[in-house]
Amino acid sequence: MGRSGLTVGMAQEFLEPMPGFELPRDAQILRWLRQGAWVPSELATQMGLDALGLHGALEGLRAAGFVLPLHPSLGLRLESAPDRLIGDDILSRMRHPWLREVRVFARTASTNDLAMQRGLQGARGPLAIFAEAQTSGRGRFGRAWDSQPRAGIWVSVLVRAWEPVAQWHRMGSVAALALAQAVERVVPVRVRIKWPNDAWVGGRKVGGILVETGQDGELGPFAVLGVGLNVNQESFPEELRDKACSLRMACGLGVDRTALAAAFLDELGFLLPRMGRGFEGVLEGLRNRSVLLGGAVRLETGGGSVSGVAEDLDGEGRLLVRMPDGEVRICSAGEVSTQAFGLRVCG
Ligand code: BTN
Repeated sequence: MGRSGLTVGMAQEFLEPMPGFELPRDAQILRWLRQGAWVPSELATQMGLDALGLHGALEGLRAAGFVLPLHPSLGLRLESAPDRLIGDDILSRMRHPWLREVRVFARTASTNDLAMQRGLQGARGPLAIFAEAQTSGRGRFGRAWDSQPRAGIWVSVLVRAWEPVAQWHRMGSVAALALAQAVERVVPVRVRIKWPNDAWVGGRKVGGILVETGQDGELGPFAVLGVGLNVNQESFPEELRDKACSLRMACGLGVDRTALAAAFLDELGFLLPRMGRGFEGVLEGLRNRSVLLGGAVRLETGGGSVSGVAEDLDGEGRLLVRMPDGEVRICSAGEVSTQAFGLRVCG
């Protein structure tokens, strides 16, 4: 088994860090500080910093809200980190930093818009753009995505081709499994996936994925993987109350968003190479977590809706639905709603 719970098979273990990529200095310091209760001040020389450089870096981290007491003989300690998403903090907590850049905006319309702009401007990526709040967060089918300030993880990851573009339709499946595995690494809940790629906990939606693609003249195609995860909300607007929940509401505890952000990016770096070889393992993970398989679903067809039983996922992650006449229909996203939950939210 791979470190992520998924059989690795022949796939490349992780996405490689970009050539020449070096962790930013603050990320390196935070990584060091997390190694033990007290970290000796030799830290500075090991990192190539002189005493003045270290002092400046620590002052910057303290100003950002990190509590970093200094003991004359024991050295430094990371007592607490702020309840804010900070790019270097996220990078410092990743097991395997594979992204060239992690940015956090206090507020933006939509992180997917920002990542699309970066892609169109020729950014190579891979990069991740988080926002603490979105004013026009959007979901699939143009639905609004409720993005309360500092309550969740609103992130868009820009990636370019390393698998043939013909396989990019698998990206949503890969991201859904990465999200589920990341949440389970950090929070004691079981995450299920409502096909095609919604994350559910306890019968309600906690997260969703919006994959968009673009193309720029020089570097060619890119994909933006937008992920919304409800983390610390204590309530939702009336219209979402019976459909949505947060991890905090599900497990009764506030959840460390930085830990979740780092875990998600780690899982994604591990699973993205499995869009090609190793995709069968991704499908197995999705089948094991499926909300729909074995249950009744409704198919929206041109001529109205018909009911069937969700039987399996095919090799591309499409839903196979057995109709009352025995025929098996292959469904792509957009045509299926559940009956079991009485919601018209799927697809
Ligand atoms: C869905 O379930 O419909 C997908 C929701 C995706 C929401 C995320 S939040 C970060 C990124 N920015 C957006 O505007 N949307 C995605």
